[in-house]
Amino acid sequence: MKKSKLSNWKGVAAVIGVDWGDSGKGRLIDNLAQTADVVARFNGGSNTGHTVKNKFGKFALHIIPSGIFNSKSINIVGKNVLVDLESLIDDELQQLKKAKVSWKNLRIDQRATLVMPWHKMRDGQREESRNAKIGTTKRGVGPAYADRIERVGIRVRDLYRKDFKDLLGEEIKIQNKYFSLNLSPSKIYSQFHKYTNLIKPLVTETTSLVKSAIKNKKNVLFEGAQGYFLDVDAGTYPFVTSSNTGIIGIWRCFDVHPTDINYVIGITKAYTTRVGSGPMPTYIKGEQRDWIIKKGGEVGTTSGRIRDPGWLDLVLLKTACENNRVTNIAMTKLDVLSQLKEIKVCIQYKIGNSTTDYISGDADFLSSVKPVYKTLPGWNEDISKARNLTDLPQEARNFIKFVENYTKLPISFIGVGPDRSEVIYA
Ligand code: IMP
Repeated sequence: MKKSKLSNWKGVAAVIGVDWGDSGKGRLIDNLAQTADVVARFNGGSNTGHTVKNKFGKFALHIIPSGIFNSKSINIVGKNVLVDLESLIDDELQQLKKAKVSWKNLRIDQRATLVMPWHKMRDGQREESRNAKIGTTKRGVGPAYADRIERVGIRVRDLYRKDFKDLLGEEIKIQNKYFSLNLSPSKIYSQFHKYTNLIKPLVTETTSLVKSAIKNKKNVLFEGAQGYFLDVDAGTYPFVTSSNTGIIGIWRCFDVHPTDINYVIGITKAYTTRVGSGPMPTYIKGEQRDWIIKKGGEVGTTSGRIRDPGWLDLVLLKTACENNRVTNIAMTKLDVLSQLKEIKVCIQYKIGNSTTDYISGDADFLSSVKPVYKTLPGWNEDISKARNLTDLPQEARNFIKFVENYTKLPISFIGVGPDRSEVIYA
């Protein structure tokens, strides 16, 4: 097991969720970004909610990379990220403005697709009329990515076309006709005209920015959104999001080959959660469910929905780590498990009379399995002051060791509280 300290990482690093998201990427990126020259988002849209708590305050970011608090790093929104200008300008930049955090180093790719008001309307409408719901965040992500794939999306650079007003008018006519909407071209034009002027200094070509940073041996950090099992191709389809959440998403967005990435950091909580629809084999029921939700603050940053908790699923974790060639695990919210008498971890799935420790299927596969658990003793102590592994109670160390042995990977970052300082770099 190779041990490489993440506190002084150098080169190219990527953070991806090895679960269903909501694992605390915001706080990890905020920590790692302190030595980053570039922080880049490569997937998702405003469906993502990255929470950051640091000396500037508490923030819920959706599109802006969580490295924005390091005034020395360039923060990039790549071409495969969906740009929701309502979220970016009316919410996220307002949060930064209030806290006097500069965004002069924010860059938005000119080729990124815009989420338009009709995408959000269609996302909600379609979901409402379905019996089997995906559980979408209604941020317009599915319809906007569908337009991108259909090659009819409006892109950031279209905002600066001389004929943007005509282009918008034509698209709104189509939307009103085919999706029975009642959109007003003049209202949307004036809203977007305002946005256009505001973001103009930030719009650029970002693939070359990232490529040249890597060539010049800068520290580049890729910030994933959601988790591997929400990946449209690899996840528990149809209960997935519409982008590539794994390592492949970086390749597609920035033409950076996975072998150019020195650290692939797979992030997970010390337990798991799932929001929206779709199976989760290790689902926790009853009082313990409510206790974890309360203690872990398991309410969606974007949607405000409760995240259902489950025991840490090592089958899930190991599969995601193997498929993405994870080099280091980051585990957050270990402190939430304190005071539990026993902690379960799922080590295998039972399907009929056989067992497996690898996920090779979609939602139907995951619905058909039963978890096989290993039960480990818990601990009572408050661990929020621990800064070294040796500060942790023996039971917590045993829990960490068990996960390391199972995945054959080092756990190099352990979150023991939400603050920037509440971390163990192992
Ligand atoms: P959509 O991407 O908004 O269409 O949502 C599709 C599914 O992915 C739903 O189950 C959402 O709850 C889930 N999802 C989307 N974004 C996130 C996220 O950032 N964290 C966790 N779940 C997410």
